[in-house]
Amino acid sequence: MNPGPVNVTNRVRKALLKPDICHREKEFSELLASIRKRLLKIFGAESTHTAALFTGSGTAALEAMLFSFTDKDHKTLVLANGVYGERVREIMELHGSPVRTLSSDIGSFPSLSEIEKILRSDRSLRAIAMVHHETSSGMLNPLGEVARLARRYKKTFLVDAVSSIGAERIDLKDIGSLAGTAGKCLHGYPGVSFVLVSKKEAAKNRRNRPRTLYLDLWNTLRHEENQDTPFTPAVPLFYAFEEALKELQAEGLQKRFHVYEARCRLLEEGFQKLGLRFLVKKKFRSHVLTSLWMPDGLPYKKLHGTLKRKGFVIYAGQSRLAGKIFRVSNLGEMSFKDIRRFLSVLRKILVGI
Ligand SMILES: Cc1ncc(COP(=O)(O)O)c(C=O)c1O
Repeated sequence: MNPGPVNVTNRVRKALLKPDICHREKEFSELLASIRKRLLKIFGAESTHTAALFTGSGTAALEAMLFSFTDKDHKTLVLANGVYGERVREIMELHGSPVRTLSSDIGSFPSLSEIEKILRSDRSLRAIAMVHHETSSGMLNPLGEVARLARRYKKTFLVDAVSSIGAERIDLKDIGSLAGTAGKCLHGYPGVSFVLVSKKEAAKNRRNRPRTLYLDLWNTLRHEENQDTPFTPAVPLFYAFEEALKELQAEGLQKRFHVYEARCRLLEEGFQKLGLRFLVKKKFRSHVLTSLWMPDGLPYKKLHGTLKRKGFVIYAGQSRLAGKIFRVSNLGEMSFKDIRRFLSVLRKILVGI
């Protein structure tokens, strides 16, 4: 019950055992094309976006996106309300891209009028970057509203959807670019990640000067659009990702959303019955992960250890929330029976404090 790596189905696991192939042969070209096509189809973006796949975890895709869309001469507004929002800022600063950060407390988000005020007054801003699901708190940020502002003010909208794509509704219409990963809500393995880029933004930025070799989004796109790859990909993980996408297509994206919503509801009702306190207000909570305050008298280590012995891995709080909260996610292959058993084990632990 950690937010990735997730439990995968046997079908996805078995895909790792497909033949050892050369990435310069047609078998890999077909695999690459199949994944890129499926991704765009699943998210209804075949006519508007293109896709670049990377070997690497979600951060690889995120850095590729941020590197390739920003430069030293243009400023980006970063909306940050947690560890991953601050990481977006950190990545940009590390590579010398100017940023203006609008930070807010964990569990809250700036008002749209605050954002708009900045967009109106700061003419040097070229892009807006934000995290969709802030995994450090479980807060789902208002993507659609910010996307509309980005469109109105003609800013490129860059989104970290690493822990939301596949589980939360995303309208790609006003999204210039989005970074995601196979190893979370898409139920594949970690080690393959991707960037979806609007064709319009790709046309405008394709000739940007490269600032990195390995994570150059434009070079990757050039190769992949020709069924080729610039470097050696993690072939078995690509096979597994293709299988996970096939499973999602067979299930249907809407059905997958409903499953996530139902799992979250079950957990939420259980937590309420146990008298646990939520970190984030209900209206802002994601369907992916729930953060709860540690109950008095129960250290995180003890809770984690006891649950682990019963077969459940929960997640700790990060940064200033370390030791104060615990996080429970419902990503990947998981049954309602598993969740009920988890709640029952948790109840026994809480009764025994
Ligand atoms: C919102 C968000 N962005 C980025 C990352 C980094 O992804 P990875 O650890 O796969 O590099 C994570 C990981 O949990 C995340 O939740």
